[in-house]
Amino acid sequence: MYNSIFYDLKISGIEKEEKVYGKKGNFVNKINDYLIFSEKELEGLGKIAVENALHNQDIEEIDFYEEKSNVLDLINLINGNFKLETVLKMTEDALRKLLNSDGASILLFNEEKNVLNFYITSGGASGNIETIDVPIEGSIAGECFKKKETIIINDAQKNPKHFKKTDKKAKYTTTNLIATPLLVDEEPIGVIEAVNKNGNYISKDQSVIELFSSLISNKLLNSKIYEDLSSTIKGIILAVATAIDLRDRYTHTHSNNVSKVAVTIGKELGFNDSILEELEISALLHDVGKIGIPDEVLNKPGKLTDEEYKIIQSHTIIGGDLLSEIDFLSKNIPLGALEHHEKLDGTGYPYQKKEDEISLFGKLLAVADIYDALTAKRVYKDPWPKEKVLTILKKGCPAKFDCEIVNALERKVK
Ligand SMILES: [Fe+2]
Repeated sequence: MYNSIFYDLKISGIEKEEKVYGKKGNFVNKINDYLIFSEKELEGLGKIAVENALHNQDIEEIDFYEEKSNVLDLINLINGNFKLETVLKMTEDALRKLLNSDGASILLFNEEKNVLNFYITSGGASGNIETIDVPIEGSIAGECFKKKETIIINDAQKNPKHFKKTDKKAKYTTTNLIATPLLVDEEPIGVIEAVNKNGNYISKDQSVIELFSSLISNKLLNSKIYEDLSSTIKGIILAVATAIDLRDRYTHTHSNNVSKVAVTIGKELGFNDSILEELEISALLHDVGKIGIPDEVLNKPGKLTDEEYKIIQSHTIIGGDLLSEIDFLSKNIPLGALEHHEKLDGTGYPYQKKEDEISLFGKLLAVADIYDALTAKRVYKDPWPKEKVLTILKKGCPAKFDCEIVNALERKVK
């Protein structure tokens, strides 16, 4: 798990008999010599990597023992399953703190326009500069990108290369800055910079920002590709969900609404980013089984016969089966579709499951589904006030709904 970091930092080491031995050097060719097997040994190597990176480069201004744990936390974070933007935001915050700077930004190269665009900003002019195209020619970030080297400027306003449009737009004065390229396989993909240090940036700051750059470069590239792909897939899923909703004469945005409510609840309950993503997809597709229900039953005006009601109920089984067929989807996703009409007391459908027989996604989507159905405007009814809907849901827990889920929803919409 630390391999890419070792590779980037060119640091090697080994843990033996509860001691760690490490050195900065040509790690790449040595990995087989060290015979690294266990996670514990890799943990040890992680510590050496950071220790060496900070110590060998002689960063006196850093209280190493205090900061070491921050950096180790950061490594775990970067290697963990967090969403890219969360990782980068936290990386920037840590960088700002370490460099005693007012702001930090990650800019990525936009090949189409041949400019750098702000991808993540923190502190400083954050919130006002994200739409600016920073030219490669005529900016310090561009110079850093082009030359693939760290640049320190301590008199930004006097420097002709300083791109003043950013300051103007943000009503911010950059006095000094440090910028380093983000490199993947020696090719620049962007720039990470920190601005407005209290005092001048010095060469020791360079070691810190270059360490951060090497920590995030690969993660950035891999996650960016994944997230671009993931948002394309989610776009397709939303189109499918909307097409299904359109068949139902009562609601056209139900699936999208349920997905927003579900993700709000999931975040409140502290789900991690990958589970939230699964939940979002499961919610978007919870009624996908309606595709198998004939129009004359789905949109029948007036009362349904028992037989027709059974046919409507089967949308849960059809949806669950359909989604189970898709190999790359997590098992949680079809469960949400199958169980979103089940109730904890066994009065739901299709299988009258009870309590823990129902998956977390099933329980959560049951609440989100009812909340949207009742608060939304339908041709046959006005929207119900959210207080009234929450009262109904609260009355239904713990008999029918999971109290923790209902309470989380209440906290977020009240
Ligand atoms: Fe449903």
